Parts: sequence; structure tokens; C-alpha cells
Amino acid sequence: MSSKTVVDGVYWISVNDRNKKLFEALWPLPNGISYNSYAVVGNDAVALIDAAPEEFLQDYINGVEEVVGDFSKVKYLVMNHLEPDHHGATPYILQKFSHIKVVTSVSASRFIHSLYKVPADRIFAVKDGDTLDLGGRRLRFIYAPWLHWPETMFTYLEGSGVLFSCDAFGAYGALENVFDDEVDLEYYLTEAKRYYANIVAKYGKNVLDALEKVKGMEIKIIAPSHGPIYRSNIGRILELYRKWATPEPDKHRALLVYGSMYGRTKRIAELVAGKLREIGFSVNTFDVSETHPSYILAELLDAYLLFVVYPTYEGGVFPYIHNLLNLLQSKDFGKGRVAAVINAHAWAPTSRQVVDALQKAGFRVLEPAVDAKALPDEKAIASMEKLFEAVKEL
Ligand SMILES: Cc1cc2nc3c(=O)[nH]c(=O)nc-3n(C[C@H](O)[C@H](O)[C@H](O)COP(=O)(O)O)c2cc1C
Ligand SMILES: [Fe+2]
Ligand SMILES: [Fe+2]
Repeated sequence: MSSKTVVDGVYWISVNDRNKKLFEALWPLPNGISYNSYAVVGNDAVALIDAAPEEFLQDYINGVEEVVGDFSKVKYLVMNHLEPDHHGATPYILQKFSHIKVVTSVSASRFIHSLYKVPADRIFAVKDGDTLDLGGRRLRFIYAPWLHWPETMFTYLEGSGVLFSCDAFGAYGALENVFDDEVDLEYYLTEAKRYYANIVAKYGKNVLDALEKVKGMEIKIIAPSHGPIYRSNIGRILELYRKWATPEPDKHRALLVYGSMYGRTKRIAELVAGKLREIGFSVNTFDVSETHPSYILAELLDAYLLFVVYPTYEGGVFPYIHNLLNLLQSKDFGKGRVAAVINAHAWAPTSRQVVDALQKAGFRVLEPAVDAKALPDEKAIASMEKLFEAVKEL
């Protein structure tokens, strides 16, 4: 637990989880994750911006007391987003400190009960653009739906220009220091990219809408709820978000993913990589059994062509490829991208299943999808040649 002044009267209350291995039980955390909360201290009231997970309740309470003295001054707990990584502790805080009201979007106020038992008279629902006076300081609430749930909003501290953005602009990785100019920024930007690909990417259109909405505002600090606070590199993180959210991948970049149990499919994948390079692509290759899809999704943000080479397994698609396809579908990753498929099998071709999944994820899938024998015969080789012709046309 540590705390720090963000600007005069605004404090960072951070809980670092260095033990968690998977965020959302899905995404690897090699260096943990931070849950950033903030205290905004006005003359009449203190507002907390988001809180902490349930298991860090006591650490969080200690952190708040460290910066504001005691909880009697805290009148509001702003819930920018209801996900339990920010609010697992909130029902306990409300129970313990019966004077605190939660401030949420109208949409959040409609489903807060499905996650937390908060009495209706403790909820103060705000509309887009509403303000809250803390005495000499005013918070403004800016709806930013789907970053990353339907109810999400930003909170903006007028005058100081601090944008509390919750998940948006967040990064994996626990924090020792907090500001972008104090940490290893390149590392956190890599983790911000992976976080974006895993958590936010499905909602690219909403990211662009939110960026448009805050465009004219004076933003001096971006204070997300995970990862570093930006004060020296605001333009950079905004620009990266614009780039990641706009599907304009480099037409010469390919991502090749393959699975292989005994090496035959790997040899086909190596041949494909060579061909793609000959055609003029830069190729990033991943063995799906070795690289977690979290990292593959992040790499895919920059690629135009996704090439999938995999074996049939128990009558279906090789499991780790299947898992990747599910994620691509659930995150609509194919928009603006092209895919190609080669299946290797002993007796049961399955490329159609993969083509369907890729199309559902939004990819334009090149013809032909190739069904090759484990050791490709002449027919399969001819089919692959045709596929490479289609790739050349891109
Ligand atoms: C456990 C296992 C299950 C398999 N299931 C099927 C199957 O259902 N249908 C099929 O045509 N081939 C099946 N195969 C054969 C593989 O798809 C084929 O041999 C492929 O070329 C394996 O590639 P690899 O050498 O890269 O592992 C199976 C292979 C293994 C090891
Ligand atoms: Fe979230
Ligand atoms: Fe979060």
C-alpha cells in the first residue's frame, strides 16, 4: 500500500496485487496489477474515485485514512465502473461508513443490485455532464459507455484537468512509482497495449467516441485505475489509443499462428512463413501451445493478415487454436483484417469450421481454405499455391 499526491488535494491510493496470476481468470499477469483509487479533497467533502477488490478491503481503508485522516470526511464514492476489480470492497465500505453515498451513471444504478447489495437511498445517479461540488472543487461526469461495460464513465476534475478514466488507458503490472515519467514507460506501454487488446479492443468504436468527447477538454493528467498515471506523455497514450482503436493495420504485416503436436504442421507453418516473406510480408510467428492468446491478440493489433495453420484433433480443431478463435470472435478482432487457413489432418478435414469462426470474428477469409494431409499431397500443394496467389493480390 502506498499513496501519493497526484496534484494538490488529489491523492493516489493504490492497491498492488503482486500475487495474482491471471486477470479476469484469463490474462497472464507476469508482474501483478495495480488497482488505483483516488481521493479528491474539497473544502466541504472528500470524494473517492473507485475503490479496490474485496480481498484488499482493509489495505484500502488504511490507504484512505493515510491521506484523508478519517472516513468521516468522505461523502462520496464515485463508481466509474462496477466491475469487482474496482468495487468488490465497496459494499463493505458502505456498510461500515453509513454516511457515504455512491455516485454512479444512471445505467450503473440500474444493474448495481445484480452485483452489490447497495440500498437505493445510498445511490446518487448522475447524468452525462452532471457536476458535483466538493467545495472549491468540482467533479464532472462524462459518460464513456462500454469502456469496458455499458455503464462506464470518466470523472473529470475541473480546474486541475485530471481525467479519472478507470479501465481506459490502463495497463497490467503492479506499481512501485506511479507517474509515467518515473516508471519504465516502454514496459508499461507494452502492457497497456496487451491490456487494450484483451479488455478494451472489442469496443474500438466507443474508444474513438470517448476520445472525440474529451478532445476539446484541457487534460493535464490521465489517472486510470490500473497502471501508471500520465502527466508527461498524455499525447502519446491518447495517440496510441487512437491507433489501436482505428483498424488500419499495416498491409505488409502478417501474423502466423500454428499448432503442432508432432512437427508436421510446424513444417507447413515454416514453409508458409517463408512464402509470406518472399511475397513481401513481415511475419510474426506464434506456436499457440507456447504463447498465451493474451500476447497473440496484442500482436494482432498491428497485423493485416492472420494466417492459421493447425492440425485436426479428435475430429475438430486443435484446442488452443479453437480457444484463440473463440477469443477472436468474442472480441470482434477481424474487422478490417484478412485471414487464411491451412488444415493438416490424417483422415478428417476441418478447415470449414475455422473459416466459419474467422468470418464470425469479422475477417475476410481468403479462398481456398486448404485441407492438406499430414504430409501434403500434390492436390494440397496446388491448393496452397492458389492460396499464395490470393495473398499476393492483397
Ligand atoms: C491426439 C490426436 C488426435 C487426432 N485426431 C485426428 C482426427 O480426429 N482427425 C484427423 O484427420 N486427424 C487427427 N489426428 C492427426 C493429425 O491431425 C495429423 O497427424 C496432423 O498432421 C498432426 O500434425 P502434427 O505432426 O503437427 O502434430 C490426430 C492426431 C493426434 C495426435
Ligand atoms: Fe473493467
Ligand atoms: Fe478494471
